[in-house]
Amino acid sequence: MIPEETITRVRDSVDLVELVRESVPGLKKTGRNFQARCPFHQERTPSFNVNPEMGLFKCFGCGVGGDAFKFVMLMEGLNYPESIRKLATRVGITIEEAQSPAVSAEAHERQTLYGLLEDAARFYHRHLLESSDAAEARAYLEKRGLSKESIVRFCMGFAPASGQALREAASRKGWNLDVLEKAGLLRRKEGSGRVFDHFWNRIIFPIWDTQGRIVAFGGRAMGDALPKYINSPETPVYSKSRHLYGLFQGMPTLRKMRHIVILEGYMDVVVCHQFGFEWTAATLGTALTEEHVRLLRRYSDKVTLLFDPDAAGAAASLRGGELLMADGFTVGVVTLPDDVDPDELLVKEGKASLEKYLETPVPFMDYYLDQMRKKYPGTAPESKLAIAKEMLPLIKKMRDPLLQDEHLGRLAQALRVEKPVLAAQMKKIKTESAFAKATVDKSGNNEVAGKPAEALAKAGVKPASALLSVEEEMLLLSLLHPSNVVAELLDALEWTDVRCRQIWALVSPDVAQGTVQVSSVMGALPEDVQEWLTPLTMQQRYYANPQATLEELVTGWNRQQESAVLKEMKAEIDSMIDGTIPMDQTKVQAYNDLSRRLKGSPIIGRRPGR
Ligand code: GTP
Ligand code: MN
Repeated sequence: MIPEETITRVRDSVDLVELVRESVPGLKKTGRNFQARCPFHQERTPSFNVNPEMGLFKCFGCGVGGDAFKFVMLMEGLNYPESIRKLATRVGITIEEAQSPAVSAEAHERQTLYGLLEDAARFYHRHLLESSDAAEARAYLEKRGLSKESIVRFCMGFAPASGQALREAASRKGWNLDVLEKAGLLRRKEGSGRVFDHFWNRIIFPIWDTQGRIVAFGGRAMGDALPKYINSPETPVYSKSRHLYGLFQGMPTLRKMRHIVILEGYMDVVVCHQFGFEWTAATLGTALTEEHVRLLRRYSDKVTLLFDPDAAGAAASLRGGELLMADGFTVGVVTLPDDVDPDELLVKEGKASLEKYLETPVPFMDYYLDQMRKKYPGTAPESKLAIAKEMLPLIKKMRDPLLQDEHLGRLAQALRVEKPVLAAQMKKIKTESAFAKATVDKSGNNEVAGKPAEALAKAGVKPASALLSVEEEMLLLSLLHPSNVVAELLDALEWTDVRCRQIWALVSPDVAQGTVQVSSVMGALPEDVQEWLTPLTMQQRYYANPQATLEELVTGWNRQQESAVLKEMKAEIDSMIDGTIPMDQTKVQAYNDLSRRLKGSPIIGRRPGR
């Protein structure tokens, strides 16, 4: 087995245009694509296309198409693994097939956790949207000004109050308790060993990594119950010092703006995004860390810190700002009036209110100096010295010598001291050990983790939403776990998503046989469907019990369809009741039957057919 990651790396590293040109010298640029006469069939006018952004080729004459591997397979008569090896050699990537068992076991465990967390998120989310015991939660969120779109976009959920619901639902789907505990979803009581759901009677905020995988949850208590928030514990896939809430959702915007606003709370992020401020994210109840700064580097050059005006908020701004300044970010600070959170401001006063504050951030060094002036008032030499002592270490840490010199000059001017004197003072400060700075990310995984999403962005493709639509999920599952049972279940489906329908028509026979090769299907699809399918298939998911998951998805989907029908019927019945159209007893009967059936059937977590 060649690891999927390696295959992706090889695919991303190959220059498809160059590769094709070696066998097809006539390749010419036309707009975004390259064109030539097809090497796989006889033709006079060129209908063979190469799309370098997507890394795909396609002949509109004879229909062949696919990625770089497919091209080599066709051109040189190789099979799939051979084509991967051939191209890997070409781009200088070594294929290590026999991974050390420990490494792959860890990777496997992470995959398992991602799968479970995604499942749990879906459970909480459906509960919030559909369950009657989440009515209070829905009302609360509405009162806070959250729209349905935001709730869906952030896949917000509700953890039922029983404290058992998640475990029961997950067990039925084949997840064992150890995995649930490892994912931070269960707590074991000391002594009795009894297990409880970690989250109960709370509004749930799933936390994503930059690849769109759910890695943890935050849970807000209903009303004034304490503690207000609990978060997932640290797990193999989650560390609070490494993730930022809202970053994944903001990525497409951030890549364009390269400016991010850091907020304090979950609610603030959701509401800010709702009002169009998609370049906002929040730390998860911690101050900014070095790891956050490294993460931010990938998406921004400029950071605005928006913190509570209270003392804790100010201290947090200072620490976070120092790290960012040292790394060369342009940093500004915005302070809102007392007792106002960004979310409240937006809901009460609208978009322009926050916009106004964000327009005039105070440059971080000015803000810092201001804080210091409050701490050491007056112009006595002692005050100046104290301020210099606090601020010089920060200036010393700046990695860019020009910026460092600039800030040293400004501080000298502000304190009315000679710049050389300050410079001499700064030299005396002991530098931190270089080793402390060079500490690498312990997981060793973080950098790699950013890659696929980055590769997608390079290809101009939006990362597929972390939460797939039910139909997308069903399709993906069939590609990952092809079998004839899966094929039978999905053959019976009337897909509403035309893209899914098109793809299903192509892959259904292969799924039934138990082997699907997506790249070979690609060529037969219209370009827009290809663009959509590629990131979808790059989603790595793990299903403990694929068949049970699929059965549940199918049941849920059928329910959804029937609910839509019910809604239409209801509209008609309403018209009968108010006399706009004549009463039709058979229709009323049909409506009642369907309505009863839907209300009686399980919504969440139960296996179908029981
Ligand atoms: P709302 O009060 O619903 O507006 O939430 P908020 O996000 O604005 O909360 P707040 O401003 O009080 O806190 C900011 C952030 O600090 C939260 O989003 C949490 O990440 C964190 N936090 C607040 N209270 C707690 C707590 O009791 N426990 C933990 N672990 N984190 C908390
Ligand atoms: Mn708040």
